[in-house]
Amino acid sequence: MNKRPLSRRASRIHPSATLKIDAKFKRMLSEGIDVVGFAAGEPDFDTPEYIKSAACKAIKEGKTKYTPASGIYDLKVAVCNKLKKDNNLTYEPSQIIISSGAKQSLYNSLSVLLNPGDEVILPGPFWVSYYELIQMAGGYPVILEGREEDDFQITKKQIEDALSEKTKAIIITNPNNPTGMMISNEFLKVIADICVKNGIYVISDEIYEKLIYDGKEHMSIAALGEDIKDLTIVVNGVSKTYAMTGWRIGYTASNHEIAALMSNYQSHSTSNPNTIAQYAALAALSADDGSAERMKKEFEKRRNYMVDRINTLPYVHCRKPMGAFYVMMNVSKLFPKKYKGRVIDSATSLCEILLDNFKLSLVPCESFGAGDYVRWSYATSMENIVKGLDRLEAFLGEVED
Ligand SMILES: Cc1ncc(COP(=O)(O)O)c(C=O)c1O
Repeated sequence: MNKRPLSRRASRIHPSATLKIDAKFKRMLSEGIDVVGFAAGEPDFDTPEYIKSAACKAIKEGKTKYTPASGIYDLKVAVCNKLKKDNNLTYEPSQIIISSGAKQSLYNSLSVLLNPGDEVILPGPFWVSYYELIQMAGGYPVILEGREEDDFQITKKQIEDALSEKTKAIIITNPNNPTGMMISNEFLKVIADICVKNGIYVISDEIYEKLIYDGKEHMSIAALGEDIKDLTIVVNGVSKTYAMTGWRIGYTASNHEIAALMSNYQSHSTSNPNTIAQYAALAALSADDGSAERMKKEFEKRRNYMVDRINTLPYVHCRKPMGAFYVMMNVSKLFPKKYKGRVIDSATSLCEILLDNFKLSLVPCESFGAGDYVRWSYATSMENIVKGLDRLEAFLGEVED
């Protein structure tokens, strides 16, 4: 049978590298193998009790039906209050769209901004899904590489050189996954000025906003003035801050026109986000039992241990991330060394050797636009972190020229 071809757009999409590695790790675990994994992009803590109780209460009260496509009003009000209190941003509830995770918020954002062939500036290293999401929305990612010696930050010249008639938006992630680095307030201003001058939209992913260490403060680019606020879609959610990855609640704040398009778009794709999870998110944003802060302190302790220890080891090094829960480890000095005759010539080959021989699961960063690096997530216990670094050290002791 001569079947008609499937969608070209869908065929361009790669499977998620991190999910693939995580699947292999979980399979090994289920086979009883003593494997230790650092691929997880989610807090290892449980969702706080007061949030779970709110979800149970919602079920008991029969809040189990459809809601408005863009989310319940009370949650939108809670998001507005949060944005005012934490980010000094004033929005009306009608400017807030609640979605099934920040990932859907990003998908909605790109879908309503892009026409076929539009370009989106993507500073790298970048979170792997942006690249695919841009293409899913019919756009082209224009990747700009940040250098390690600049804490992986791009420059004004790089952005200006990348601008074209087709540039529609830039995605910024602050703090960043995978680097954990932050964009300085001065550079946010530079980005804002370029965007306002050229009428370019900003998708500002602030999902790790509450996981910032060493007393540093977060600033949203949208807070830099009315013009840039009008061009910005703020993306955030409850997944990382409240250990709620499985509940799938994210949100955007944007101008009215964009919010209306996103609401229409979402109403025909997923309808409303899960009703019960919306009530859980409402509780998360409306109260504070201190668990988010406790989680952050624990992450900071783990980060310090991991970074200090990596930087005592041969062949590898890392910079100290400022936020999120990832460490990017530079492994380029291992290329092209050997392990038991097997050549290490890429981050992927290194990760395969580590998983097969040392039962250590790390994420190669080629698909994050950073082939000289592997990513550790420290959203796992201190015991696992010590074990994982012991295994890395054992491996490095056996590397040959
Ligand atoms: C930078 C970044 N943005 C968005 C998301 C998606 O978050 P959610 O689980 O709310 O969809 C992630 C998850 O890993 C992320 O790392």
